[in-house]
Amino acid sequence: MTICIVGLGYIGLPTAGTFSNKGINVVGVDVKQEVIDDLKRCVLHIYEPDLKELIADSIKKGKLTFSTTPVEANVYILAVPTPFKEHHEADLSYVRAAAESIAPYLKAGSLVILESTSPVGTTEKIANWICANRKDLYYTTSDGHKSSETGVNEVFFAHCPERVLPGRILYEIVHNDRIVGGINQKSSELARDVYSEICQGEIVLTDSRTAEMSKLTENSFRDVNIAFANELSVICDKLGINVWELIKLANRHPRVNILNPGPGVGGHCIAVDPWFIVDSVPEEAKLIKQARVINDSKPQYVLDKIKDAVNNVDSAVIAVLGLSFKANVDDLRESPALKIAESLVSMGYKLQIVEPYIEELPVCLCSENAQLVSLDKALKDSNIILGLVDHKDFCCIPRSRFEGKCVIDTRGMWGILNNF
Ligand SMILES: NC(=O)c1ccc[n+]([C@@H]2O[C@H](COP(=O)([O-])OP(=O)(O)OC[C@H]3O[C@@H](n4cnc5c(N)ncnc54)[C@H](O)[C@@H]3O)[C@@H](O)[C@H]2O)c1
Repeated sequence: MTICIVGLGYIGLPTAGTFSNKGINVVGVDVKQEVIDDLKRCVLHIYEPDLKELIADSIKKGKLTFSTTPVEANVYILAVPTPFKEHHEADLSYVRAAAESIAPYLKAGSLVILESTSPVGTTEKIANWICANRKDLYYTTSDGHKSSETGVNEVFFAHCPERVLPGRILYEIVHNDRIVGGINQKSSELARDVYSEICQGEIVLTDSRTAEMSKLTENSFRDVNIAFANELSVICDKLGINVWELIKLANRHPRVNILNPGPGVGGHCIAVDPWFIVDSVPEEAKLIKQARVINDSKPQYVLDKIKDAVNNVDSAVIAVLGLSFKANVDDLRESPALKIAESLVSMGYKLQIVEPYIEELPVCLCSENAQLVSLDKALKDSNIILGLVDHKDFCCIPRSRFEGKCVIDTRGMWGILNNF
């Protein structure tokens, strides 16, 4: 079996490493020439624990190669981005481009698996885009009909959503349960056989639309629950109650499990995927939409708090602790911490930024007022300390370092200092 993995980011690259390390021939494809050039020299453009060693090992064994164009393979896995557009509609242009790029290489029996998180119906769209490009190909619809009159070679399509947690991707790719949904039963079974090469979790079969919705549902569930915590944090701030203590107390109830509030919700998944549901059924998805609105409004709430703090000190210098969208990763995508820092830069405040997982500030923060510095320097040189990400280095800052400073802790890292 040869697997061609299209899109070598946080999902595609670990997937390529995991399959190839099991002795399967894998060709990793990415449109970015520099990514491919670097990968050939085992220089990785993303950080994930143990990934570099895994990739190096697979390259050495001759099981993993890289290319900017797809190749002939039995199985294609698409792991390209699925962002949203200006009004929160899903942008499927990457998925479509990836599907069209593999179309010339498909043959009878080829299996195409979509791993990208996608709106309901996307796997069927891929099947149609590909078969429109290749009149000799067809698929069998779920009710048993041939998709085209001209098709002579049957091809198969499935969705297998990815549920890994950045920082634990290599463990979770193997150990998580997997949902596999084909556009027909045979597609589901073929995809199950592929994942059974690497998965120790249970592989559960369904249809492609349910598989697509299952991933969107999981992330919407998280988003709605975080929105509840974020709303509580604002309510508690108004009522003068410590939300962190409140949540600890409420969670003593055996059937209550409130999540942690924060400065907003970020990342490639939770802040994006619920919009795919809202976009397809706006009238029905009321709670899911409101959760998005609540979580997206939290950075502004934090900014207002910072403005109050700035007004209460002389010559404010703000230590901005953390830019990533969550703790202990380098991923800045959709990060509320980054958004807050960007606004602070645009307001002209003096910032001492600490982000242990990056080596230089992103372009949006480049300003003479913003410097990327060590934690020690930031704590020494600032009079306002703004905790935005609960990186492990930040959680253990001795309380004495906060003396005489204004502290804003959006992550509940520093015990009783927390104010919202
Ligand atoms: N990152 C996560 O933790 C995570 C978790 C679960 C699901 N997902 C989903 O997985 C998908 C991929 O996410 P990611 O985090 O790996 O994205 P990413 O941005 O890290 O990587 C995507 C890669 O695809 C490449 N690419 C874009 N168009 C291409 C094309 N036509 N052909 C070949 N390569 C192309 C890009 O250059 C990039 O390197 C998304 O749908 C995302 O929602 C991500």
